[in-house]
Amino acid sequence: MTGLVSFELPSETMADKTVDNKIQEIFSNYLSKQSLFKNREVLSTNFLPNIIIHRDSEIQTVSSIIAPILKGYKPSNLFIYGGIGCGKTVTIKYILEQLSKISNGNYKTVYINCKMKKVSDTEYRILSQLLKEFGLLVPETGISTNILYKKFFECVDGQNIIIIFDEIDALVNKIGDEFLYNISRSEQNISIIGITNNISFADRLDPRVKSSLVEEEIIFKPYNAQQLKDIITLRTAEAFDEDCLDESVINKCAALAAQEHGDARRALELIRVAGEITERLGETRIKEEHLDVANDRINTDKIVETIKSQPRHSQMVLESIMSLKKASKGWQDTRILTGEIYRQYNNLCEKNTIKSLTQRRVCDLINEYENIGIINTRTASRGRHGKIREVVLNIEDDMLKKIDNILTKVAY
Ligand SMILES: Nc1ncnc2c1ncn2[C@@H]1O[C@H](COP(=O)(O)OP(=O)(O)OP(=O)(O)O)[C@@H](O)[C@H]1O
Ligand SMILES: [Mg+2]
Repeated sequence: MTGLVSFELPSETMADKTVDNKIQEIFSNYLSKQSLFKNREVLSTNFLPNIIIHRDSEIQTVSSIIAPILKGYKPSNLFIYGGIGCGKTVTIKYILEQLSKISNGNYKTVYINCKMKKVSDTEYRILSQLLKEFGLLVPETGISTNILYKKFFECVDGQNIIIIFDEIDALVNKIGDEFLYNISRSEQNISIIGITNNISFADRLDPRVKSSLVEEEIIFKPYNAQQLKDIITLRTAEAFDEDCLDESVINKCAALAAQEHGDARRALELIRVAGEITERLGETRIKEEHLDVANDRINTDKIVETIKSQPRHSQMVLESIMSLKKASKGWQDTRILTGEIYRQYNNLCEKNTIKSLTQRRVCDLINEYENIGIINTRTASRGRHGKIREVVLNIEDDMLKKIDNILTKVAY
C-alpha cells in the first residue's frame, strides 16, 4: 500500500474553476491598469521624507540641545511632548540622520520605539534591546538584570550616547521608572530623549527620576489646516502621478485631519486610502467623495480596533451599555444611567463567573469610552436626590451592529 487514496473531485470543483478564472481576471486587470500611485511607500508611516516643513524652530531647538555631543560633551536630557501625528518621531529621526552626516565622532545614538512588542515590556527586554544595539545578543531569559546593566555600561564605556525612548510612557507604564533612574544616574555619559503624547507624563515620575531626567522640554503644537495642506501637497507630489488630485481634495483632506487634532498621519492615511479606493473603482482622479468613503472606513477601522484591544472588563462594560440600549428603544438616542450599567455589568460577570470590579472602577472604564469618543455622558441634577449620570452611545447604527458582532464573539 502506498497510502494514496483515489477519490473523485467534488462537483463544486467545476464552480471553483470559474472562481479561479475570476481571480485571474482581477489580477490581470490590475496589472494592465495604470496606477495612480507613483510611489505608494511615500505615504506609509515609516517613510522618512527628505524635507520636514513647519517644524523649523523645533528642529533648531532640538539640534542645538544635542549638538554638544559633536565636541564630546554630554547633551542635556530632553523631553518632547505633542499630540498624535504632530511630527515628533519624524523630526527626531530626521535630526539623527543629519547628525550622522556631520561626523563619525566617538558617540552613538540609539532609537527605541517603546510601543513595539517585546521591546520594553520588562526591564530584561529593554536592556537586551540596548545591548543588541551594541552588537551583543542576550538569550531571552536566564541572566540577572544586574549583569545586563553591567554589560551595558561596559559597552557604553566612556562614549557619549543619546538614547531616544519614543513613546516613553509605554515603557514606564510597563516597567516603572526605576530603569530610567538607573540609566540616567549612571556614571556614564548617557543622554536621554523621551518622546510622549502625554504632557503630564513627567509629573507621574518619582521626583528623583524627574529631576535627573527632565532637563529640557519642548512641546510640538498640532498642525493647523494650512500646515497640513502643505504637508499633504509635499508628500502627494512624490506619491501620486501628476493630475490625479485637485486642490479641493487636498483642502478637504487637510480640513478633516485638522479636526483630528492636527494629525499629519491621519491626513496621509486618508489620502492614501482615498487613492486606493479610486484605483479600485478604475477611476483616474481622486475626488472628494472618495475621501469621504476613506474617512468613514478609517473611522470604522479605528473604533473596531480599539474595542478589540480593550481589556475584558472594559469590553463587558461596553456590552452592558449595548444590551441596555437594545432592551430599551433599540439603537436610537437612548439615555442610560450609569447605575443601570453597573447592574447589567454585574449580571454579566455573574453569568460568566468572573469577579466584578468596583462601581468606581467601572465609572473609570466608562470615562475611557468617553475619551475615545464612543459614548457621551451628561450629568443631570435630580434635585434633592442628588445627581445622575447618563450615557449615550455616540456611533452610527451600522457601526453599532459591527460592535455588537465583535462583542458577541468575545469569550470572557
Ligand atoms: N512636518 C512634516 N513634514 C512632512 N511630513 C510630516 C511632517 N510631520 C509629520 N509628517 C508625517 O506625518 C506622519 C506622522 O508623523 P510622526 O510619526 O512624526 O508623528 P508623531 O508626533 O510621532 O505621532 P505619535 O505621537 O502618534 O507617534 C508621518 O508619516 C510623518 O512622516
Ligand atoms: Mg511618534
